[in-house]
Amino acid sequence: MSQGARERVGALRAEIARHDYRYYVLDDPEIPDAEYDKLMLELQRLEAAHPDLITADSPTQRVAGAPSGAFGEVVHQVPMLSLDNAFTDEEVAAFDRRALERLGEAGPLEYWAEPKLDGLAVSAIFREGVLERAATRGDGFKGEDVTANVRTIRSFPLRLRGKFPPLLEVRGEVFMPLAGFERFNREAEARGEKVFVNPRNAAAGSLRQLDPRISATRPLKMYCYGLGRTSGWSLPERQSELLEALKDWGLPVCPHSARVRGAEGCLQYFHEMGERRARLPYQIDGVVYKLERLAYQERLGFVARAPRWALAHKFPAEEAMTRVRAIEWQVGRTGAVTPVARLEPVFVGGVTVSNVTLHNFDEVRRKDVRVGDTVVVRRAGDVIPELVRVIQERREAHAPAVQLPKRCPVCHSEVIKREGEAVARCTGGFSCPAQRQEAIRHFASRLAMDIEGLGEKLIAQLVEAELVRSPADLYRLTAEQLQGLERMGEKSGANLLAALERSKHTTLPRLLYALGIREVGEATALSLARHFGELDALIEAARAHPEQVEQVPDVGPVVAAELHAFFAAPAHRELIERLREAGVRWERLEPRASALPLAGQTFVLTGTLSALTRPEAQAALTALGAKVAGSVSKKTTCVIAGDAPGSKLDKAHALGVPVLDEAGLRRLLAAHGR
Ligand code: IVH
Repeated sequence: MSQGARERVGALRAEIARHDYRYYVLDDPEIPDAEYDKLMLELQRLEAAHPDLITADSPTQRVAGAPSGAFGEVVHQVPMLSLDNAFTDEEVAAFDRRALERLGEAGPLEYWAEPKLDGLAVSAIFREGVLERAATRGDGFKGEDVTANVRTIRSFPLRLRGKFPPLLEVRGEVFMPLAGFERFNREAEARGEKVFVNPRNAAAGSLRQLDPRISATRPLKMYCYGLGRTSGWSLPERQSELLEALKDWGLPVCPHSARVRGAEGCLQYFHEMGERRARLPYQIDGVVYKLERLAYQERLGFVARAPRWALAHKFPAEEAMTRVRAIEWQVGRTGAVTPVARLEPVFVGGVTVSNVTLHNFDEVRRKDVRVGDTVVVRRAGDVIPELVRVIQERREAHAPAVQLPKRCPVCHSEVIKREGEAVARCTGGFSCPAQRQEAIRHFASRLAMDIEGLGEKLIAQLVEAELVRSPADLYRLTAEQLQGLERMGEKSGANLLAALERSKHTTLPRLLYALGIREVGEATALSLARHFGELDALIEAARAHPEQVEQVPDVGPVVAAELHAFFAAPAHRELIERLREAGVRWERLEPRASALPLAGQTFVLTGTLSALTRPEAQAALTALGAKVAGSVSKKTTCVIAGDAPGSKLDKAHALGVPVLDEAGLRRLLAAHGR
């Protein structure tokens, strides 16, 4: 290979990278598109003649690799948080006041104000300046590996420029600019293909294409607005300087951001952006304010899943008028009977709305919605559409008020609505097809019977084929029956039977939780099991002595009533009998009366928690009487597993020790008023 070719390839790549930077980051192109295309063509030809010169970060290699069958999973080392929302000026002022108070500052605080882009959040890791991996936000802790698709975003660099840190995880929003969105839809329509309802769906749909060649044809862009993990670099003092640094490294950032002072400055920016909104080349659903000083951001930290140092200020919702065609009742997976209004389709907030949930019967009465009514429907950004109000003046005479159905529309069991409760429920339980699947999914879930490999799809198949009507039927499944199911190999069938066999050896708290008794979560199940020691004692008390049940810490009349109703039903007692017959066993626990609600319980913490530090979690548990130990044993009551848990979690699984995630811990603490 000629030395000349190698040098020319290097020079062309540097030249192309410089033009990309000027075009996409500085928005200041130096040469016409045709000249740029010539450089690209020359590079392509040279690489075709000398394939050994091709590298992954060459601008010709944006579309690399064949379509994949599925996206891999990526764990975010630093969780990707969301933002608290504000809709009014007062909420913004309150946010600013809280920040001032927490920081003990008097003067106006500086904020960095940015458009809130309507796309999807993506995190990208550059190692030694080379794009290594990109992932969607997912649930904030785990996302999907979309590296191949992010590589196809022309404005996003495959390699950083300048003096970048050796490890840089950058975060931002992938979106489809409006012009591209409109063009894409026009072309799709002409081809008779599906169009996207809004740019946000278009961006999400395009990024989640399994074939990167398709993503490459979609006009996506990304603006960076924050960091994940970095190393070998010291942070600047300000958010604006951070963005300048990103820009210097060749990363595109939004050009419409600004520094503002105090709540007043924030509101002024909000109103300016509101006016400019219709002329911006991309869709936004509000603006975001972030404390300008990073040291302040650090000091304020996070609560739950949003930073205290940032706020999303949303534009007012969009409203439209339409007519109610019908009101129907749906039975949810938990038995809740929910009214849904079927509407004349109406375009609002960027999508066509033809159904809205009315949440519950009280809401129907409160809003006094009737069939045939003219109503106002609202939809803001990606928020679920809602029915705002009825225009009474337009009501047809004699329109009858809506009644709660007496019978479940799915299984015809009785529907009951308790005094003081908003939700009406079908009493069918396991016998209602709408609830069966969910009841079994819950029974099999990790914190319940932990039946590995029994996922949602498989449960649906088993229920559909009527092989399983109640959880006890699971333990009667045979290899032949499983073989008969679609996509079920011999090996996976055998694995499932083995997992079912393993799950038979369980604990009382797990079993109690698995039964899916309303109001009995993991924490309550644990308290009940600790208190009564064995199931029969609990059943006896639940049926005949509710006052004994109310003795249990964390249990009040509501839980006692649910337990009573559950164990009074012959079908439920029969279920327990059938589980016992099938060989499901749990150990007897030593009952103990306890002064503090968690006395006698031992917890082990593993992994990182996001809302609490470990010492905080430890203090909260000890205050309730629990012990917090460093290692897991058979005596451990429960392991609290945060993000990226260690071997303690494996040990907990091996020993059958119940595991709570952070949300479970929060519920446990909340149940005891902490
Ligand atoms: S900052 C901890 N800045 O809004 C900071 N987010 O509601 C988290 N978003 O998931 C994000 N524009 O998808 C930030 N300028 C901006 C944004 C922005 C849009 C999205 C992002 C995030 C969601 C949170």
